[in-house]
Amino acid sequence: MQVQWTEDAALDIEEIDDQHRKIFTMINAIYTAISKGSDKSDTLDALKDMADYAIEHFSKEERYMRQAGYPHMDEHKSEHDDFFSRLEDFEKRYKTGDVSIEEISDYLGGWIENHMMGTDRGYVPFFKDMGVK
Ligand SMILES: [Fe+2]
Ligand SMILES: [Fe+2]
Repeated sequence: MQVQWTEDAALDIEEIDDQHRKIFTMINAIYTAISKGSDKSDTLDALKDMADYAIEHFSKEERYMRQAGYPHMDEHKSEHDDFFSRLEDFEKRYKTGDVSIEEISDYLGGWIENHMMGTDRGYVPFFKDMGVK
């Protein structure tokens, strides 16, 4: 159940697309660690890496949105905050065996589709107007 980057996911802003490609890679690392299942700490590390990188990526998007005066920043930021708390929740529940692979993969797959290929598209013309490439 690995996810595959395709041009459909591209926002045509190289700086953001590079980070989004990295997020695909990190999501795949989570899936790989879970499906091996041999060592819980591998999965916890992968979830933690994803959360750390999400902070970096989200702060970049939020900085640009602020600079651009993007009108939907609040809703966008609340989706970011939600992603971050879901990852924390998965980490906690994975430790106690209280979360399934399906739940994690449904959420992360939905995140790619609804946020990275959906919500993120809204800012594209604003970022481009600001000269972000
Ligand atoms: Fe994004
Ligand atoms: Fe975003």
